Amino acid sequence: MSHVAHSVVDLHEQASRQPRLLTTEHLDDEVRERARATWRGRMVSEHTSAHVFGTLLGQGVRAGLSSDRLDPIAKAIDQELSHGLLCARVVVALGGEARGEMDGPMPMVPTHDDVAPLEGLVRNLISISCVFETLAVSLVSCEREQVRVDELKDVFSRILGDEVEHARLGWALLDSLPRFDAAQQSRLGAYLVDVFDHVLDHFGPLPHAPTASDEALRWGASDGPGNWDLVLDTMHTAILPCLEKHDLPARAAWRAAATGARLHA
Ligand SMILES: [Fe+2]
Ligand SMILES: [Fe+2]
Repeated sequence: MSHVAHSVVDLHEQASRQPRLLTTEHLDDEVRERARATWRGRMVSEHTSAHVFGTLLGQGVRAGLSSDRLDPIAKAIDQELSHGLLCARVVVALGGEARGEMDGPMPMVPTHDDVAPLEGLVRNLISISCVFETLAVSLVSCEREQVRVDELKDVFSRILGDEVEHARLGWALLDSLPRFDAAQQSRLGAYLVDVFDHVLDHFGPLPHAPTASDEALRWGASDGPGNWDLVLDTMHTAILPCLEKHDLPARAAWRAAATGARLHA
């Protein structure tokens, strides 16, 4: 499948038809703009995740997954769409346009035709679910703690409950598989370097992104350097050790990716 040509996510009309999520009349302009930009970014990435899980569902069918393993993937598509719409409603409540552009086209989910369908699916589940969704759980948990507006806390809680499921579905599939043989471990280990390159590419700008004021954090703006520290902490204390438990050389792959990116990560 070639990539989706359009890289614009436009949920403005749909979000504007929904009841207003919160009132923001007395908000300082700078805080409002900062919060709006963060929520617009969240809207785009949540909506894009629906596309990613949609592709994963097709791969799961092709790999012969049972329907009880496919169901949570199918459910994730719907959940990511509703996360995107929730974030769009926050943008509208903040007086913004719920339209966002991505840096490029919708992300491609690789088909991995060089290996058997199940191994190809495992590669994508490690990347999407075990790594990126686990990072999302950490980031959303932290942002939920920082936010001070009840309606926004509620939005984060609804999103967080689903992100936990999205992370679990990948870890549960890994737990259910027979141990990887040496050749599989080696191929998956090599692929992990690509996954971690993507992590560093995606989150690498965070340490240089502006910090958020306490007031902006209260409205759900994200704090670049703080989030970067959290990404590193989650990688080192949760994701790498869990992948190593499945006999995957995750720490070596992380070092290789960090060295390639010339980052002390
Ligand atoms: Fe989500
Ligand atoms: Fe998710």
